[in-house]
Amino acid sequence: MSSPISYSHDGAIAVITVDNPPVNALSQPVREGLSKAIARFEGDSKAKAAVIVGSGRTFFAGADIKEFGKPLAAPGLPGVVNEIEACSKPVIAALHGTALGGGFEVALGCHYRVAVASAKVGLPEVNLGIIPGAGGTQRTPRLAGVEAAAGLITSGRHVGAQEALDLGLIDEVSNDTDPTAAGVAFAGLITGNDMGPRPTRDLNDKLDEARKQDGLFDGLRAAAAKKARGQLSPLVCIDAIEAAVTAKDFDAGLAEERRLFDTLMASDQREALIHAFFGERAVGKVPELETGNPREVARVGVIGGGTMGSGISIALLTAGYHVTMVERDDDAIAAGKARVEKTLEGGVARGKVSGEQRDRMLADQFHGTTSMNALAQVDLVIEAVFESMDVKKDVFGQLDKICKPGCVLASNTSYLDVNEIAAMTERPQDVIGMHFFSPANIMRLLEIVVAEKSDPDVVATAFAVAKKAKKVGIRSGVCDGFIGNRVMGKYLRVAQMLVEDGATPYEVDEAVVGFGYPMGPFSMSDLAGMDIGWATRKRKAATRDPNERYASDWMDRICEQGHYGQKTGRGTYTYPEGARKGEHEPETLKIIEEVRREKGINARNFTADEIMERYMAAMINEGAKVLEEGIALRPVDIDMVQLFGYGHPRWRGGPMKYADMQGLDKILSSIRKFESEDAWFWKPAQLLVDLVERGETFDSLNKKEIS
Ligand code: 3HC
Ligand code: NAI
Repeated sequence: MSSPISYSHDGAIAVITVDNPPVNALSQPVREGLSKAIARFEGDSKAKAAVIVGSGRTFFAGADIKEFGKPLAAPGLPGVVNEIEACSKPVIAALHGTALGGGFEVALGCHYRVAVASAKVGLPEVNLGIIPGAGGTQRTPRLAGVEAAAGLITSGRHVGAQEALDLGLIDEVSNDTDPTAAGVAFAGLITGNDMGPRPTRDLNDKLDEARKQDGLFDGLRAAAAKKARGQLSPLVCIDAIEAAVTAKDFDAGLAEERRLFDTLMASDQREALIHAFFGERAVGKVPELETGNPREVARVGVIGGGTMGSGISIALLTAGYHVTMVERDDDAIAAGKARVEKTLEGGVARGKVSGEQRDRMLADQFHGTTSMNALAQVDLVIEAVFESMDVKKDVFGQLDKICKPGCVLASNTSYLDVNEIAAMTERPQDVIGMHFFSPANIMRLLEIVVAEKSDPDVVATAFAVAKKAKKVGIRSGVCDGFIGNRVMGKYLRVAQMLVEDGATPYEVDEAVVGFGYPMGPFSMSDLAGMDIGWATRKRKAATRDPNERYASDWMDRICEQGHYGQKTGRGTYTYPEGARKGEHEPETLKIIEEVRREKGINARNFTADEIMERYMAAMINEGAKVLEEGIALRPVDIDMVQLFGYGHPRWRGGPMKYADMQGLDKILSSIRKFESEDAWFWKPAQLLVDLVERGETFDSLNKKEIS
């Protein structure tokens, strides 16, 4: 196999080019090729300086993540970077695309760095549960100072070329768009001025400055801990940067960085975060995309300008679509438009959108109407009217008559049967569910609900729109609540049972937050409005299975008193004077005790671990049922739904990955234990039983062919 690294000359400049598509990851052959090229340059009397550059779309985008978790084949990256730095003649990195992680560490080992204006650099290792492991934590503070380095490394953010220049991370932003030309020109400047190598390891001024600052690392640790929410790597990043300042020399700091890197590489968090990295990309690979071709979409109709319709409109406008919003009457369309305007205004205030962008969106791309006929020429309609089958059927009946042939007809329904909605039209093949999450302009999850007759082209169109709107599209089959809300229904019920049995709602929320969710289920229902769940329970009361345990009386009673959560100032929590963070409400505890007394329940204590054992077991068991019914294609789809729509901590990888890491036998034995208390609710999923019998994991199902 030919090497992915080539070596050529441009006059007196050696050009070392990597060609390892798609992102020039630093896999073993790349590291080996780079090491050999550097050795060749050292002995190359014709070359006065060398440029390292990426071909294709980017400089090295980092270590090859696929190699993680396996024994690393020599040469290791830190050694290769040291070889570059030790060169007796100048080596220049010419950056374009995304120079990330190990890729940027190669650049930091070079003596000079030039970037094309569109280049981005960064050290995103923290997001994979590790720290930069090829000198990034030692060289970045030497160039940019400790505080800037800590900001960069603990956030993993990508920095544009100009900011990188301002921070001292690179030496020049070139006007050239071709990185090789930029690198060779810069190298000419270096040799022309007789400038020699400038090893980053020898730059100590910024470290000396840090040594004079008392309490610097305490402050950095406190800031990192606040954002980390249970994730280990941000704090370990600080440890490694501190080693740059305190170690006896550069090599000792580098050795400490490697020790910390290796510890994290062996952690569950690293495994979970890598699962999330590949999971985010895997969910886009669905059978329909193998045959389906996306239809062209430029104009979209959104029906309903309420919470969801307005959020969806903003997401689509931001993605560049033309949006026609349709509402029931003049007041409603005025309110819908006002919601869009207000949110965009907020975006401008927070610097997310420019005033100019906002004006363009509102003037050129967006218009509101009360006439469905305005949808005659749109390419896609997303319906976001009330969650009522009758209302939705009426809307789809009208759309069938109005919309042009080939228009994709999507419903944003949360629970309703998309097959039944599709049957209202003469073109069920064009109907699909596109289930956004609130706030739709922010939340990344978009469940793409494939109905029985949805055409593969229609599925492909929904995925293409998701991608353009920067959403994570995840395929779901049709069932009550699809993947996300169906699974959520189960763990919310467990949360209510836990309260009836003895936990306080505050203990449940604390346990869930302690696990890593941003919010517990009861704070969440206070935020969304307790009346929503109450209405659903009332609607389903008549058809509820008599064997099903009903543990929502205490919530119903709170609602009966007119307390629905934040919007009424009281729910499970109380919100004095419009506070957004709730305080414990003694009345809630009284109501709970009253219900327990009436039902003859002897309250018992639950530790946070016991709460989470039940909460996660319910999530996993229902996830397994969703899988065995074919509603979700693979376990990873359920994981990503939880991550992108429900706040599951990314560093735990999602419920199915969590189950694998805990051991499926352990999860099943918990479920069996609970089954003895409530056989109806806790019936184990057959798939889970089968996997345990075969000694397999959920992950083994991710690896199966999708078609
Ligand atoms: N290793 C292996 N495969 C990678 C990869 C990597 N570092 N980065 C991307 N890929 C793969 C993706 O999985 C995807 O594969 P697929 O087509 O089979 O799904 C393909 O390359 C293209 O990636 P994207 O779809 O993500 O392409 P984009 O253009 O949207 O994004 C990117 C490009 C910004 C480079 C993005 O892929 C990315 O952020 N990659 C990860 C960068 C990273 O985290 N680097 C640090 C790695 S850790 C490290 O370097 C350790 C060191 O300190 C020792
Ligand atoms: P909402 O009550 O805020 O908005 C619904 C809007 O639809 C109202 O403005 C109403 O005037 C309009 N409308 C009703 N009938 C109409 C018709 N025939 N023609 C035109 N407009 C009509 O409701 P929300 O929350 O926006 O929900 C809409 C849909 O989105 C529902 O199906 C809901 O289940 C779903 N959904 C809601 C989420 C949420 O968190 N609110 C999350 C995901 C989906």
